[in-house]
Amino acid sequence: MAAPVSSAALSYAILRRQPSPICSFSATFLLPLSSATLDQSRRVSLSSVWPSQLRSRRRSLSSLPAMASEKALGSKGKQGLMVFDTEEELSASLAKYTAELSEKFIRERGAFTVVVSGGSLIKSLRKLTESPYLETIDWAKWHTFWVDERVVPKDHEDSNYKLAFDGFLSKVPIPPDQVCAINDALSAPGAAEDYETALKHLVNIGVVVKSASGYPRFDLMLLGMGPDGHIASLFPNHPLLNVTDKWVTFIKDSPKPPPERITFTLPVINSSSYVAMVVAGAGKAGVVGKALGNEKTADLLPVEMISLEDGELTWFADNAAVSMLPDKPSL
Ligand code: 6PG
Repeated sequence: MAAPVSSAALSYAILRRQPSPICSFSATFLLPLSSATLDQSRRVSLSSVWPSQLRSRRRSLSSLPAMASEKALGSKGKQGLMVFDTEEELSASLAKYTAELSEKFIRERGAFTVVVSGGSLIKSLRKLTESPYLETIDWAKWHTFWVDERVVPKDHEDSNYKLAFDGFLSKVPIPPDQVCAINDALSAPGAAEDYETALKHLVNIGVVVKSASGYPRFDLMLLGMGPDGHIASLFPNHPLLNVTDKWVTFIKDSPKPPPERITFTLPVINSSSYVAMVVAGAGKAGVVGKALGNEKTADLLPVEMISLEDGELTWFADNAAVSMLPDKPSL
C-alpha cells in the first residue's frame, strides 16, 4: 500500500525569490536500480573518488598509528582522512568529490540524493556553484535533504534551509520540487513526523534507496561537526542518540540554540553510501584529536558513533582541525 503523501509533499513554501514546492514525488525519470549497480557502487574505492591532483596531499588513515587506524576503520565501512593546507583547498576538493559521486549515481540510477547539514559546511560547498561544476553537474537529477533543521520559519536567520538556499541552492539549478525542506508551519514533533512521511514516500517510489536494515540510504551526506562532537542535532550524552525506531525525530532542548529542531536519527546517518565529514578550524581540533587519535575512551561522542553499515566516510579537514592529532600530517 502506498504511504500517505505528507503535507510536506503537498504544501508550498513561499520564500523570497523562490515559490518552491517541497518534496515533489515525481520519479518518472528514474532508471531501474538493480542489485548489480548497487553492489558496484559499494565496491568503489576511496581512491577512485578522491581527486587525483590532491592525492599526494591526502593522508589515508592507514598511515596513522596502528590503534588510530584500527579504531577509525572499525569493523564496518571504510574511513579516510584528507588534510588540506587551507579551507580554500578543502572546498575545491569537496566540490570535486561531490561532482564525481553525482556523476556516478546519476549514471547508475538516474538520481543523486544529497543530504546537507547546517553550519559552516554550507560555505565549504561554494565551489560547487562555480565553473566547471555549475555547468557540468546534472543538477536536474539532484534531490536534496537536511540532516537536521531548526524549527523556525524558512526565512528566519536560524533556518538551515535559508542558510543552504542563500549560500548554495539559489545558485544551482536543482528543481525546487526536489528540495525536501521542513514544513515550517508545524511544531517540532509534527515537522519530524511530516519529514519522515515524506521520506517514506520517496523510498516507496525509489527516489531514495532503502538500506539492508530498512532505513533510507542516501547517496551522499555532507556533514559538519560541532566543537562538542555533535553531528546533525544529535548531541553528546543525549537520549536521542539511542533512537532507532524513527528515521526523523525532534529535540526541544538542544544545547546549541535554537532549542527546537528536527534531526535524522543515527541509524539513518549510518545507512548512507557516502558521508563527507567537513571539519575546518582550530575549534574542531580537540574533537578531531579524540575521534581519530590513539586514545580510546568509552564515552563516545556522536561523531564517533558514525559506523557506516555499508558505506564510506571521508573526513575533509584543514591543518588547524587536525592540529591535535598525535602525529601531525606531513603534507
Ligand atoms: C545545525 C547543524 C549542526 C552543524 C554543526 C557544525 O543545525 O546546528 O546542522 O549539526 O553542522 O554544529 O556547525 P559548524 O560547522 O558551524 O561548527
